[in-house]
Amino acid sequence: MSTTNSGSRSEPPSLGRSVLLIGASRGLGLALAREWARAGWQVVATVRGSGRTGLHELADTYAGQVEIETVDITEPEQIAALNGRLAHRMFDLLFVNAGVADQPDDTVAQTPTEEFVRVMVTNALSPLRVIEALQDLVEPAGTIAVMSSGQGSVANNESGGHEVYRGSKAALNTFMRSYAARHSGEPRPLVLMAPGWVRTDLGGPDALLGIDESIPNVVRTLDALRSSPGLHYVDYLGRTVPW
Ligand SMILES: NC(=O)c1ccc[n+]([C@@H]2O[C@H](COP(=O)([O-])OP(=O)(O)OC[C@H]3O[C@@H](n4cnc5c(N)ncnc54)[C@H](OP(=O)(O)O)[C@@H]3O)[C@@H](O)[C@H]2O)c1
Repeated sequence: MSTTNSGSRSEPPSLGRSVLLIGASRGLGLALAREWARAGWQVVATVRGSGRTGLHELADTYAGQVEIETVDITEPEQIAALNGRLAHRMFDLLFVNAGVADQPDDTVAQTPTEEFVRVMVTNALSPLRVIEALQDLVEPAGTIAVMSSGQGSVANNESGGHEVYRGSKAALNTFMRSYAARHSGEPRPLVLMAPGWVRTDLGGPDALLGIDESIPNVVRTLDALRSSPGLHYVDYLGRTVPW
């Protein structure tokens, strides 16, 4: 895919690569969009709703290189419409970042059913719907990645807490393993990314990492896995996370 830069900054030369990034209005998604834009990638990134976001500012800065699309991943007809609008495009990377958290101290049994459904549908069901719908927009040997969490690790869950959120990311991991099993032998790297505990609206102010400590490493790790087919559950530094 060809790349056009705004030309207003000194940037690394364009790598001519492209990403479709789902959920980039703020937080880690916005930082990913910025990181790939700086590296000269063509970035198609999504928001939901019609309000102005940080992504709109980024798209103004990188006019023509960062394009904004819209999708609420919990609305299948919006996913289908996005697929229709992008049907003529191909991407080197599909990254599904969108996710939500709930009250961290509620046990699963205390969680209102509606809230349980919201978190599970957003974090576990919807990313797989996005991947199934948009996979044909990804180059045959391109990467499909989704933002998981270290909290999705069943093996590492010795401290408890964040029960529903943990469950949603563990479910996401399991669904990706099923997806990977159905696609075994294909050249695509599939990545479940644990970005670390990062200071965002979701991560909160006490998180260990700043966005700049996580996201450049996430991008480097994805790049390092570019030629590694099959499923990888890794953290931002490229370390394998136990299932
Ligand atoms: N921060 C951390 O410590 C941490 C750690 C591990 C994993 N993660 C994961 O990293 C991802 C991003 O987290 P963050 O910390 O950047 O959170 P954040 O600041 O709350 O941002 C969440 C992003 O997801 C989007 N989103 C939520 N629901 C959506 C939906 N139904 N459809 C489309 N977009 C939706 C939001 O869009 P709106 O602006 O429209 O709400 C926003 O762009 C999540 O999957 C999260 O679980 C974060």
